[in-house]
Amino acid sequence: MPALKSILLAALASTGLVAADGLNSRAKAAGKKYFGTEVSGQVLNDGSANAIAKNAEDFGQYTCENEMKFDATEPSRGTFSYGNADKIVAQAQANGQLMRCHALVWHSQVPSWVTNGRFDNATLISIMKNHIANVVGHYKGKCYAWDVVNEALNEDGSYRNSGSVWGSTIGPAFIPIAFAAAAAADPAAKLYYNDYNCDRPGAKSTGAQNLIKMVKAYGAPIHGMGLQGHLTTGQVGSASQYVSNMQAFANLGVDVAFTELDIATPSSSPNFGQQATDYATIVSACKQVSACVGITTWGFTDKYTWISNSAPLIWNTNLQKKPAYDAILNAWGSSSGGGTPTTTTSAPAATSSAPSGGCTAAHWAQCGGQGYTGCKTCEAPYKCTYGNDWYSQCL
Ligand code: G3I
Repeated sequence: MPALKSILLAALASTGLVAADGLNSRAKAAGKKYFGTEVSGQVLNDGSANAIAKNAEDFGQYTCENEMKFDATEPSRGTFSYGNADKIVAQAQANGQLMRCHALVWHSQVPSWVTNGRFDNATLISIMKNHIANVVGHYKGKCYAWDVVNEALNEDGSYRNSGSVWGSTIGPAFIPIAFAAAAAADPAAKLYYNDYNCDRPGAKSTGAQNLIKMVKAYGAPIHGMGLQGHLTTGQVGSASQYVSNMQAFANLGVDVAFTELDIATPSSSPNFGQQATDYATIVSACKQVSACVGITTWGFTDKYTWISNSAPLIWNTNLQKKPAYDAILNAWGSSSGGGTPTTTTSAPAATSSAPSGGCTAAHWAQCGGQGYTGCKTCEAPYKCTYGNDWYSQCL
């Protein structure tokens, strides 16, 4: 039935009788640039999964999972390979979807000709600059944003040396050098520093703020902080922590984005209701911070995720929508930019037995929270359950 409903809604949308709707449409109606997803070659080769990825109502932006990384794009010195990434970029362009391009300088997925090359400081800098000039030059004008430097910090906020050919050979100066090289190759791209465990206030987040100040002090441009957001169901907490953390980055004059959001729950005993609430918390936080330009999930289906046995995404392994889908829709607000939330995976809410306010919210729908003006009573047998100050849900 949900499939039939989607087909009917799509048919109606094509007639203009109802507005097209989806995760990205709602994000844009809330004033954001996009709601996006990581996409891989595996997804492109799976027709059913790829049909979901192609739907621009749900996804207005792609990030390549591995196809733009150093080992994929420069497998041997001076030889560049773009075939797999080009296919993803072409699909995004055909569907009017933005590209966040990922990632230029990272200690992981670096080919052995770099890590085992025993290059001196000056040679490694020239290798890095040459890589950036070629890869950013190849995609010039096609990347809304680039993750220029990825995961350069330790958990205490200090610069990573151990295990990083860049940090151990060049020192932290590789960071501003990389940003300057990326800016020279594509002056229009938004240049991001991207890392995990910087989502909430703490030593690593403070370290990332210091890194941004350091890049600026060198005179190199930096435009954004990428919060990866690899999270765990039940440990997400309240939106207010994410809001104040994002605001600290915004105060430095940069954009912020959730760049790799996924929320793990054990697939042997999943808690999809809590997972839905946790997704809604992140959306609610982004919605409250004007510098938060969008959210990218690290994949969209549990069929293709980097974390095994964790069911962290929005569609299940059979490509059916999970509760998180409606929770995200409702957390963004209505497709016209405010008002009553809707639901697409549950039956429409009954209106005849509404005890107050003239409507009831369906299972999984939002039913309360600061600024929320929609239905506050849940359809039977569900109860309006407090998730955080910005989001209560019918569970
Ligand atoms: O391509 C080789 C293939 O030739 C080989 O046969 C196979 C055998 O294991 O490995 C293949 O490479 C794998 C690669 O993904 C491509 O599939 C690597 O083993 C595997 O480690 C690699 O994992 C990726 C991981 O980054 C590497 O650290 C994940 O797919 C990717 O989702 C993950 O993404 C990162 C972000 O880029 C940065 N932030 C964290 C995030 C999650 O770890």
